[in-house]
Amino acid sequence: MRAPCVYIETFGCQMNEYDTELVRSILKNRGYGFTDTADAADVVLLNTCAIRENAHNKVYGHLGALKHLKEDKGVVIGVLGCMAQNLKTDLMGKDSLIDVLAGPDSYRALPDLLEQAAAGKKALAVDLSEYETYVDIAPDRVAGVAAWVAVMRGCDNFCTFCVVPYTRGRERSRTLPDVVREIEAAAESGCKQVTLLGQNVNSYHDGTSDFADLLCAAASVSGIERVRFTSPHPKDFPEKLLDAVAEHPKICKHIHLPAQAGNDRILAMMNRTYTCTEYRKLVEQILTRCPQIVLTTDIIAGFCSEADDEYKETYRLLEDIRFASAYVFKYSERKHTIAARKFADDVSEQVKSERVTQLIELQRGISLAYNLGMIGEVMEILVEGEGKRADQWMGRTDGNIVTVFPKTHGTLKPGSLISVRIVDATVTTLYGESALS
Ligand code: SAH
Ligand code: SF4
Ligand code: F3S
Repeated sequence: MRAPCVYIETFGCQMNEYDTELVRSILKNRGYGFTDTADAADVVLLNTCAIRENAHNKVYGHLGALKHLKEDKGVVIGVLGCMAQNLKTDLMGKDSLIDVLAGPDSYRALPDLLEQAAAGKKALAVDLSEYETYVDIAPDRVAGVAAWVAVMRGCDNFCTFCVVPYTRGRERSRTLPDVVREIEAAAESGCKQVTLLGQNVNSYHDGTSDFADLLCAAASVSGIERVRFTSPHPKDFPEKLLDAVAEHPKICKHIHLPAQAGNDRILAMMNRTYTCTEYRKLVEQILTRCPQIVLTTDIIAGFCSEADDEYKETYRLLEDIRFASAYVFKYSERKHTIAARKFADDVSEQVKSERVTQLIELQRGISLAYNLGMIGEVMEILVEGEGKRADQWMGRTDGNIVTVFPKTHGTLKPGSLISVRIVDATVTTLYGESALS
């Protein structure tokens, strides 16, 4: 009998991308094959995200589009990831198209669940674990320049707006030697850059080593040119970690430091555990220690009861700090969260949208000025692949800014590091002159 063929689509954050590589590995070991199109598949898996309403809507849209495959060919449909965990039986109603549900800690059970479903019985596994880190499973990744490596899973912070502690459960870290072994394997297959992932990555601790130790160990793996990490929480940024970033040439000078808001009452309601002044002090400390560090952030606009003057403090925070870029989100109430249980989602849609639009406009101007300020500088670029045009290379600066430059150097290839002089810039992209040798 031919091996069943699986198509997986991944939504959400890099952690989900990484988990899809784990799922592929688990299924491959049980004899499954893979395809790049849903039409050719016997099994369609959606690895889902629950972070905001529009993430949900995207998945519902895709499920609708799969209806005909189920009706015509009896394809098995599985929903994995955070939405499976958060909505559980809501998704498995009797008329639902879904045959299998598996939360982020249940992927080892997936082959068995799929077998049950193929025998006509809906199957679900949504228990969270305090221990599961998939320690013995090597992710099935496409060899390339960059790899994600999950170093810890779960989150214990319980920011009141956030569903992640409910979908991914308690924090747990892999051991440093285990992470280093995975990075060594990636380096052997040609990978040049690793991004260490965790919902709350800087609270990593394996009992012996902390996150700064882990970063330095990762950056010392032979063949690895760049180490990145995401996302750190501002509450866990000790001097030792800043020293590691500032001093180690292979640890990228980019810190994504989600602020969420600029008003203390709102930050307290969000349970972020820092004040705006403390956040600003941390930024000052980072830039004093290492001025070339590129800072980026996440902002939520329109959180419960946010008044206009409170929102304006967030606006001022972006104006003052001048992040290289910022993701700005409209607050979206999530089932099970503390905010959903305790606070009214009472900022109108219109006001939320206006605030988001104003913040994005402000940030676009700042990002453009930031990027134009780099014109004339020579930056080291790690080539990732071709640009949108076949006669261009695309890569990133150490600070993570996308850079495009003409292919005038015959010897370059994805994975090459090259010095490029910046000659032009837009809000999102730097343009370089032919590579200097
Ligand atoms: N663990 C990461 C964030 C993961 S979610 C961290 O703490 O930095 C990524 C971003 O989504 C968050 O930083 C936040 O800005 C946004 N977000 C999370 N929950 C949200 C919600 N309910 N509504 C709107 N944005 C949200
Ligand atoms: Fe969510 Fe806060 Fe944890 Fe980030 S730190 S995943 S925002 S609860
Ligand atoms: Fe989404 Fe889950 Fe990641 S909710 S952002 S896929 S941790």
